[in-house]
Amino acid sequence: MKPKILVTQKIFPAIAEKLHRHFRTVLLPQELPLAGKTLAQKAKDADGIFSFLTDKLGADFLEKTPKLKIIANFAVGFDNVDLAAATAKDIFVCNTPNVLTEATADLTWALLLAAVRRIPQADQYTRTGKFKSWRYDLFLGSDLSGKTLGILGLGKIGKAVARRAKGFGMDVIYFDAARIQENEDGLDIRFVDFDELLRRSDILTIHCALTKATFHMIGSKEMATMKSGAYIINTARGPIIDEKALVQALKSKRLAGAGLDVYEQEPVLTPGLAQLPNVVCLPHIGSATKETRLAMANMAADSLIAFFRGTKPPPNCVNPQVAHKKVATVN
Ligand code: GLV
Repeated sequence: MKPKILVTQKIFPAIAEKLHRHFRTVLLPQELPLAGKTLAQKAKDADGIFSFLTDKLGADFLEKTPKLKIIANFAVGFDNVDLAAATAKDIFVCNTPNVLTEATADLTWALLLAAVRRIPQADQYTRTGKFKSWRYDLFLGSDLSGKTLGILGLGKIGKAVARRAKGFGMDVIYFDAARIQENEDGLDIRFVDFDELLRRSDILTIHCALTKATFHMIGSKEMATMKSGAYIINTARGPIIDEKALVQALKSKRLAGAGLDVYEQEPVLTPGLAQLPNVVCLPHIGSATKETRLAMANMAADSLIAFFRGTKPPPNCVNPQVAHKKVATVN
């Protein structure tokens, strides 16, 4: 009998067809994540799950899925999955790295430009008939050339953002928990400690994963350390920023602005955030190009297909030790 795969939310028809060719596929048709209990009920006899970043696959969920062997998460981030619990239960977890790097870096740059040059506000002003004449002080923003971009987390997306920054004549500094010198090759960027990153950045852009260590890594103390008039851009994960503290810093104009694609309590915005004129808010669309989303979905499907054909660990697995654990047990 073919393995049973649960696809937790609506997906591209081409991906559904591809999965149907290989599996007994249950496609949940809704466009919103199901609540934990309902999802667990649907997943109770699934061998594999094609999940979305909005599905909360915690330890309690994994307790209710005894047959589950693999989760292919349709995202590069996998903070929605309790990785330790999955690993303890010998469940492989796969993500979709690389294919979304350029699209996410592009969106980061679009958001950065939108925040620094006040594009959404200027657009609104123009289309509502307020544009009466050229004015010397109309929507003054900030130059990028000669300014310092601080990158928090020099993974693939961080590096792609650094390359773009160089095209705009910016100095680039970065902080990462571990400095890997070859990551800097050809980029003309400089490693600094976290404190220096905060103190020197005119624009701070966040590209690290959400973990226990990065939760609220940018809070009121860090914002107070930043240059007055700096900007924060976040296309990584919302909870890396203490959003209440951000609202305060933007309200008081301690920070000049922010560009956010992700939120602490996504999709809910912290009270006051949406009313601020100096923030640009997007609905988590970092990787949202047709090509990239299709490539990501194919990648997740291919991880499932390879796994059930016997490839262990499957491609793009973030806990490959599950494959080796078996060997350790036998020995
Ligand atoms: C998007 O946020 C992703 O993790 O792919």
